Parts: sequence; C-alpha cells; structure tokens
Amino acid sequence: MGKSGAGKTSMRSIIFANYMARDTMRLSPTLDVEHTHVRFLGNLVLNLWDCGGQYRFYENYFDAQRDTIFRNVEVLIYVFDIDSGDVDNDMLRFDEVLDAMEQNSPDASIFILLHKMDLIQADDRQRAFNERAASIRARTQVFKPKFFATSIWDETLYRAWSQIVNSLIPNVEILQSQLNEFATICGADEVVLFERATFLVISDVSRLNGDMYDSHRFERISNIIKQFKLSCGKIQSQFQGIEVRNTLFTAYIDLFTGNTYIMVITSDPNVPAALTQLNIASAREHFDKLIPEG
Ligand code: GTP
Ligand code: MG
Repeated sequence: MGKSGAGKTSMRSIIFANYMARDTMRLSPTLDVEHTHVRFLGNLVLNLWDCGGQYRFYENYFDAQRDTIFRNVEVLIYVFDIDSGDVDNDMLRFDEVLDAMEQNSPDASIFILLHKMDLIQADDRQRAFNERAASIRARTQVFKPKFFATSIWDETLYRAWSQIVNSLIPNVEILQSQLNEFATICGADEVVLFERATFLVISDVSRLNGDMYDSHRFERISNIIKQFKLSCGKIQSQFQGIEVRNTLFTAYIDLFTGNTYIMVITSDPNVPAALTQLNIASAREHFDKLIPEG
C-alpha cells in the first residue's frame, strides 16, 4: 500500500515481472487492487496484493473492503514517496492503515519503504530517512516496522525486497548453515545464492574479516546481473554464468540448482577456477534436495 504514484507497481514489475527501471514510466495508476501470484524458488507462492493508492480506493479499503484487505495479512509493505509534497495527508492515511492492521492482523510484519530516494540530494538522504522513520515509528506500539531507503534506479530496491522475501522463506537457516559449510569446503572468500527468476539474494556467506568497503555489494550484483540477464533474453539467448578475474580474486557466477544461481569468490591462488567449478558441480545435487524444484 501507499499513495498513488509512490512507486508500488513499478517495484513489483521490476522485481517480479522483468521490467527495466525505465519501463515503469509507462505504467498507469492501478485501479482498485491487483492480485498476483508470484512463484519464488519454484514452489513458494507469494500472494501479492498491489493496492491502488488513489484516495477513492483508500476510502473503499477502510470501509466496504476492510475485512478483505486487512485480514490474514502476513506482510504489509507500505511505500512512502520520500519526496511527497503532502506528508500530512500521507501520514493520516497511514494511521488509518495501522488502525485497520492492529484490529485485523496484529501479528503481521510491516516493512516501510521510503522510496524515490534518488530525488533527494545525496548528502541529505540520511537525514531525510532518519527523520521520516522516527516519525513513522512513533505512530505504533503494536508493530515494529523495518525501514528501507529505496529507489528503482539502484540496488537498494533489491536489498529491501530480498529481506522481505527472506522473511517468508521456510527453513532459510538450514540453507544458510549448509552454504557456510560449502564456502569452507571450497576455500571461498564469499558465496552467495540468488533466486533464479528475480535474482534476489537468498543467502550469503562471507569469510573475510574486517569491514568491507561496500556493504551493498551483493545487491549491486543482483541489479547488474538481472539487467544483463534481461538483455540476453532480448536477443533470444539465455544467461548461464559469468567468470570475472583480476589480480586479487576470481568471481564465478553459475546456474546452480533448478531455482538458484550461485556466486563463489576466491582469492586463494591455490584454488584454481576449475576446482571451484568442480565444487559447484559436486554440490548441486545436495542443494537441489534442500531447495526442491516446484
Ligand atoms: P498507484 O497505482 O496509482 O497507486 O501508483 P503506484 O504506487 O503503483 O506508482 P507507479 O509504480 O505507477 O509509479 C509512478 C511513477 O513513479 C512512475 O512514473 C515511475 O517511473 C516513478 N517511480 C517509481 N519508483 C521511482 C523511484 O524510485 N524514483 C523515481 N524518481 N521515480 C520512480
Ligand atoms: Mg500502481
């Protein structure tokens, strides 16, 4: 949910329907509620309700459709246009949504996306984010929302959606521990699993010590590879994998299980690329059982 023009349909189309960011300029306002079932990891079906944000629809959500909209909500994703000229009205509507949620789905998780961050000057983004998040947080005692600063023009969208979707994947801890073990066996610095269709990060392992210069690096890769994958599709070709090497490390991305890609990064000169490929091939069957195909 979120007001009209906030960017809800744009983000859904980029993550789940293979839109490039610039394609979203063609979207028209969503009329009433658009229901979609998106498949994730093959057999996990996310039932996504994209609620048109025009005022006349909101009136309906709070009134005639109240039970339909707010009952049995597992996750509410509320999108605020950070550059909105009408913050007071945005907040009034959000308060009503909180009321309806407290009554009907008090156990739901709430994710707040402070969106269109690209429209705020870079050196003012943190302040704008903190200020808005504090004001939203103060409005509810029942929920503990998670906040993200997002934009369709960079990897922040992938970071937010990867965490939203991860909160819904069953047994994600088992996958994580198995991936840890795989990273150790491979002598890898880092290993990341991406979901095949969306390229969202499902699980990642870093065996490097100390601060990394870029804490969003995996989501950046999601964004870049997803775009490359779409470009491959345009020339009737299918993306399969990539190998990148410099003097410091080798990064290897390959189709892994039926529903995932894997990235393995190694800097140990004693681990040749062929060995990494062999390790990936040997682990496939095991991970295929952990992440069954739907
Ligand atoms: P309703 O369906 O009416 O509720 O609106 P909506 O929230 O679905 O908005 P929609 O996704 O249709 O986006 C409206 C416009 O915002 C489109 O022109 C998008 O290209 C633009 N937009 C979406 N996300 C961003 C963003 O992160 N930054 C900027 N600058 N523009 C964005
Ligand atoms: Mg829409």
